[in-house]
Amino acid sequence: MEVIVRKDAEAAARLTARLIADAIRVKPDLVLGLATGRTMERVYEMLVEEHKYRGLDFTYVVTFNLDEYVGLAPSDPCSYSAYMHYHLFRHVNINPANAHVPRGNAADLEEECRRYEALIAAHGGIDLQLLGIGLTGHIGFNEPMSSLRSRTRLKALSPVTLQQNSEYFGGVDKVPRRAITVGVGNILESKRAIMLATGEEKADIVARALEGPVTAMVTASALQLHPRCVVILDEGAAANLTMRDYYDHIFHTEPEWAPYRSL
Ligand code: GLP
Repeated sequence: MEVIVRKDAEAAARLTARLIADAIRVKPDLVLGLATGRTMERVYEMLVEEHKYRGLDFTYVVTFNLDEYVGLAPSDPCSYSAYMHYHLFRHVNINPANAHVPRGNAADLEEECRRYEALIAAHGGIDLQLLGIGLTGHIGFNEPMSSLRSRTRLKALSPVTLQQNSEYFGGVDKVPRRAITVGVGNILESKRAIMLATGEEKADIVARALEGPVTAMVTASALQLHPRCVVILDEGAAANLTMRDYYDHIFHTEPEWAPYRSL
């Protein structure tokens, strides 16, 4: 795992968007794992700009979102499907047939989980997985006590998460109680992963995830087991890290990061 701290949320989003855009340029048929939440909105905005003004081509890109609320149709404005359409898909030249989000309103939800996993496998797995982190330390909707080997399945959302996401629904009582999420095991199988976290409210959980023990109580800590994971933070989210000097040293001395230092 490498940790890169940028001076603010804007710079952190810019580096994240640049890494994704570069990955698409290197591999035009990239299988990209996507995340939702407020933190990602700016990243998607920047990818849209890359597409519009610098020719970033999504023709052959295949995307798989991490999760979806149970009970919501893709047309529901609160669904993650609608979120992705609003922030990214409608603005770029992605083939709608290649943009996958779990179907939260499937008649047979267990079958939907199996279908989604099989589809990811049929595409050879995720090349690059984008991740945020929830206040409970979740990646996707892998709430505390998710097995570190978990697969795509239904998960009950915690009260903290219901509260965190209530803004989108206009009240905590309106947030669906369960979601379909790919598992921690699936996320660990991605060939590369980028986790982006910004803001002081994430400082405590980021420090626990990155520098604390690997535990099912903080599923983002499982990224310590990932073979190729970069964590991008702003100063606020990095505030409680103890090994900061070491992380900065790597970023400023490794040649592979040189093209990104000015971002
Ligand atoms: C939701 C998503 C997570 C995301 C989290 C962070 O819970 N399921 O994948 O990481 O939101 O949200 P935000 O960026 O709004 O803090």
